[in-house]
Amino acid sequence: MTDRAFDTKRIVVVLDFSDAQQARELVAQLDPTLCRVKVGKELFTRCGPSFVEELISQGFDVFLDLKYHDIPNTVAKAVAAAAQLGVWMVNVHASGGRAMMMAAREAVDASAHKPLLIAVTVLTSMAQADLLEVGVSGTAEEQVLRLAHLSRDCGMDGVVCSAAETSSLAAQLGKDFVLVTPGIRPAGDAANDQKRIVTPVDAIAAGSHYLVIGRPITQAANPREKLNVILRQLDGKIGNLC
Ligand code: C5P
Repeated sequence: MTDRAFDTKRIVVVLDFSDAQQARELVAQLDPTLCRVKVGKELFTRCGPSFVEELISQGFDVFLDLKYHDIPNTVAKAVAAAAQLGVWMVNVHASGGRAMMMAAREAVDASAHKPLLIAVTVLTSMAQADLLEVGVSGTAEEQVLRLAHLSRDCGMDGVVCSAAETSSLAAQLGKDFVLVTPGIRPAGDAANDQKRIVTPVDAIAAGSHYLVIGRPITQAANPREKLNVILRQLDGKIGNLC
């Protein structure tokens, strides 16, 4: 794991759009000095690496959320390609195992540009019965902790975690282990389909480093202003975590 100083640019705006034009319209309202952006499977599959390059050329740090999960060699090559693309953060599934994560780590370490390498532990869409069906007999919490510790052992820079897991992971894994948290809703905002939500202020207080925020910003009447409102709420609350 590399030494890092967390900067104050903690919000990652989710570009969950089905075409580049919609994404461009949103991005035009964002300031790359104030936030980062996340490109997931849908937008990437539709628009490809050139759209990621376009975002980077505009000054945005891009979280490439493709959650690689394959044999070690394949994941290493994919992670190397993401690093070459110049993304800020890339992720893999921790359930791909030690050899896969270590291969991903080596690929980043061998790259000229080194994105943060993050693991996904247990998808929050997996209920207890779903885990049992794929052979996981412990609780979801136990599995998250097991995979988070394995991720750290394999040199991952951090994990994606739900708001509910943030404080226990922060306590167990140390302040340098990056916690990336979706399911964020400013007080008073609609939960949409998220089940367990926390406010930006509470997520930061619990130890989250990066807040992944989609609809509260992207569906706002004025996304730029909405981001500014959230940043004002966080003002003065993130410095002491650095
Ligand atoms: O619009 P919203 O803020 O709910 O967007 C959250 C983003 O974070 C979506 O891109 C979603 O796929 C992603 N995500 C999540 N929960 C997880 C992992 C990722 O909501 N556990």
